[in-house]
Amino acid sequence: MISFWNTLPRPIVSLAPMEDVTDTSFREQVIRMSAPGTLHVMYTEFTSTDGLCHERGFDKVAERLVVNSSERELLQQQGIRLVAQIWGSQPERFARAAEMVSQTGRFDGIDINMGCPVKKVVKGGSCSALILDPTRAQDIIRATRESTPLPVSVKTRVGFHQPVTERWIRQLLEAGPSAIILHARTSKEQSLVAADWSHVALAVKVRDALAPDVPLLGNGDVSSMADGRARCRETGADGFMVGRGIFHDPWMFRDSPYEPSREDRLHALLSHARRYTQTWGPDRNFQVLKRFFKIYLHGFPGAAALRATLMETNSLKEVEDAVGQSINRMLD
Ligand SMILES: Cc1cc2nc3c(=O)[nH]c(=O)nc-3n(C[C@H](O)[C@H](O)[C@H](O)COP(=O)(O)O)c2cc1C
Repeated sequence: MISFWNTLPRPIVSLAPMEDVTDTSFREQVIRMSAPGTLHVMYTEFTSTDGLCHERGFDKVAERLVVNSSERELLQQQGIRLVAQIWGSQPERFARAAEMVSQTGRFDGIDINMGCPVKKVVKGGSCSALILDPTRAQDIIRATRESTPLPVSVKTRVGFHQPVTERWIRQLLEAGPSAIILHARTSKEQSLVAADWSHVALAVKVRDALAPDVPLLGNGDVSSMADGRARCRETGADGFMVGRGIFHDPWMFRDSPYEPSREDRLHALLSHARRYTQTWGPDRNFQVLKRFFKIYLHGFPGAAALRATLMETNSLKEVEDAVGQSINRMLD
């Protein structure tokens, strides 16, 4: 079935779902740092279908699906698609969760996580464990598709213990996903070894033979736009997804590399911190936000000292004061 995935320019450029990273406040920050038209698809953090189906658990889990109106406006202005990622092990819970996600009206697509290697989720038969249970994986894709008008994609890996790329991509395609995002590592490898994009090339061949209309994106170790484009040329992938690369260059979604000034960096940090606090309130774990400071603050005199000071902060006010003092010292 034709969906937004088929109408996007090639290569499709996307930002990976990352827990405790890609909430609405960071996604908006990334859009603000990107050149319009460069980034095409963004994802929420992975959201539990059990949690969404659980009356008492719902509020906490649903936080992952918050989309600020300011982010919504930018997404619409720039034609960026937002996909909600869900995970679990029970087809009927996927069906219910897909209905709920669709009814929010906030998302352009639903993605099923079949790649997370974390022990706790794998033990429950979810995420990358589904690679070992293809019949259940297919039931989940079908149940989700039947419960939503939105396109349903799958983000997965090349295997669990060892690569099984050919059989796994074939089995996924049999269940009719709208797109596949392939992280070029096994579950066992987590992210500890270099991604092997020869598996993306292999997956593209399977896709070409069985379902040429289903876009296939590669994921793993993409460090820049040029790197992502080259990997797509070499493998035939329709697009690429960037994960940790954004931590090294949050300004990466541009046609040519951008060297941010000190003012750009400080401004990005403050605007992200303010939006984070405004969205989640002052009591949300400040440690989560602190992890971002180092991605903005490097490459100018005094960056290391300011970083060290900010690591001791515990509120937005303390962050604003520390940045203000650092600017004053630089002006002296
Ligand atoms: C902090 C962090 C959180 C992540 N959370 C998710 C997640 O919620 N859902 C998911 O499918 N993958 C998640 N991943 C995996 C990434 O989406 C991506 O597949 C992986 O980092 C490989 O890409 P990279 O080599 O470009 O980082 C996470 C990765 C990191 C580093």
